[in-house]
Amino acid sequence: MLHISPRKLRSLPLKSRLRGLALIGALLTLLVSSFLMQSQVTHAASYCQVTYSVPNQWQGGFTGNIVIQNTSASTWNNWTLTYTFPSASQVVSQGWTGNFTQSGQNVTVTNVSWNGTLTPNSTTNPGFNASWSGSNPAPTNFAVNGNACNGSTQPTPTPTPVTPTPTPGSPTPTPTSVPPTPTPTSVPPTPTPPVTPTPTPPPGTHVDNPYAGANGYINPDWAASVKAGAAQTGGTLGQQEASVANNSTAVWLDRIAAVTGGNGVTRTLSGHLDAAVDQANANPGKPVVITLVIYDLPNRDCAALASNGELSIANNGLANYKSQYIDPIANILSLSKYSNLRIATIVEPDSLPNLITNLSFAKCSEANSSGAYVQGVQYALNKLHAISNVYTYIDIAHSGWLGWSSNFDPGVNLITNTVKGTTAGVNSVDGFISDTANYVPTTEPYMTANQQVGGNPVRSANFYQWNQYIDEASYDTAMRNAFISAGFPSSIGMLIDTSRNGWGGPNRPGGASSSTDLNTFVNGSKIDLRVHRGNWCNQKGGIGARPVANPAPGFDAYVWIKPPGESDGASQAISNDEGKGADPMCDPTFHGSNQANGGNLTEALPNAPLAGHWFQAEFDLLVKNASPSF
Ligand code: BGC
Repeated sequence: MLHISPRKLRSLPLKSRLRGLALIGALLTLLVSSFLMQSQVTHAASYCQVTYSVPNQWQGGFTGNIVIQNTSASTWNNWTLTYTFPSASQVVSQGWTGNFTQSGQNVTVTNVSWNGTLTPNSTTNPGFNASWSGSNPAPTNFAVNGNACNGSTQPTPTPTPVTPTPTPGSPTPTPTSVPPTPTPTSVPPTPTPPVTPTPTPPPGTHVDNPYAGANGYINPDWAASVKAGAAQTGGTLGQQEASVANNSTAVWLDRIAAVTGGNGVTRTLSGHLDAAVDQANANPGKPVVITLVIYDLPNRDCAALASNGELSIANNGLANYKSQYIDPIANILSLSKYSNLRIATIVEPDSLPNLITNLSFAKCSEANSSGAYVQGVQYALNKLHAISNVYTYIDIAHSGWLGWSSNFDPGVNLITNTVKGTTAGVNSVDGFISDTANYVPTTEPYMTANQQVGGNPVRSANFYQWNQYIDEASYDTAMRNAFISAGFPSSIGMLIDTSRNGWGGPNRPGGASSSTDLNTFVNGSKIDLRVHRGNWCNQKGGIGARPVANPAPGFDAYVWIKPPGESDGASQAISNDEGKGADPMCDPTFHGSNQANGGNLTEALPNAPLAGHWFQAEFDLLVKNASPSF
């Protein structure tokens, strides 16, 4: 697995230059649009419709949702939305599905690369997070390309005392003001209608969120490794380690033998599914959800060596992937004895993201030009989606990889086009997953990307390199909105692999730094303790949030995809029949490269075994640095 875009590092100085140009461009756009405003305003009634709503509001902050509809008779090739916040306290901190800038109370939103074209009647759906205090009135003067729109505004929900969901283990945010106490009136209370219990769907039904109301499968083999390691460690740490075994982890189908047996594989796919059925029978009344990782594309892990696989494009790999890997998986998953299980699949981690940023690697370039990754993913989706109790989640890398808009927008495009090319189109996926086997925190609790420190936004710090997203929660929210704008149903749900993104332990900051120097502030405030976001192999992180369903709106679950304690890769050649190589990014003495991690040390733990093999030293650290702790 490799997790970094080499392109972004090279482009940094250019990015700064482009930013200057973008500012001048934005000023020109404003001048031009104010001219257009005067000349085109007469067409207002038939040009645009803007619906503004506030789906979520808490003390001090809110999320705004904007639906822009082209109500004119002609196609727009690009659009600029303007509006004015009625209160000076309303300041956008982050936007998605549009480029948000704010000057005083005036907000300007321009299209991103993939949603500029809007045909008559079509819509696009940008959104943002912003601050407020006192009151949070809706703007009323929406205009698109200088033409006033017939807006409609939906009511703002009443603020609830402490709405932001704290990351487990982080301090609970203190409300900035006390919510007003409602004045009692003499109106008799409205009778509360009886609560209708949510019916449990019949077993095997395709539900919206497979993780909701289900017990996660405990992989007996991983749990046995955890318990053996805990017994060896002993003492308090050993006791903590033992309790980790009670958590559900994914089963990686990382070679054909993992499906059909042989090559020393003791528990095949059927073996895991049988064990899952046993676990369901032991707890009747609650279904079991088992998560499988589909991970054997030809030219796998094309920009790294640690998790290279057994199939290659040059050696008929795509055809073999279909007939020897996906077909047997689909045949097994279709068996009626497994029809009451909920089977969630994580489809090919890193594959499509590698086609966005890593085409300078020959194996990625071949995966791209041959179409093998796209066709392999489409084949897998067609087979898996056809089975009603199977759920599919596509990998979207993580914020430190596709978070720059120059990667984000092409990533959304490629994934969207790949999924639209399947038989069921956008309906063939249930959602998307980020942070698979990586270490990016779900939230950075002490800062936001656009917060200003010493006159510059946090995201411009060396550690973030102008990335739009400093954590997975904000990145996933933006991705989900972008996919919905691109045509996916709003039922799609996000997953985050939280198995190693906790970053607890003695070096975790307890609050924001007081420094006014941007880099000092960021380095003293971030809980992600890596020196560079490109470091991905056997890091000194900690176990993160426990697997849980519905952790936040739009999120199906936090899941543990990378089983804690399994290696990311070896730094020295170790002979094996899995195709895995020695990866310099797993060597603690290697200084990386400018492309991979800015030439920093890799921070990998030494003496690691092959990817996927048990690594006790890593497990010890992950438990010591767990947040929440065990
Ligand atoms: C490896 C797989 C392994 C998985 C989970 C990947 O990096 O390539 O073989 O099953 O991690 O540990």
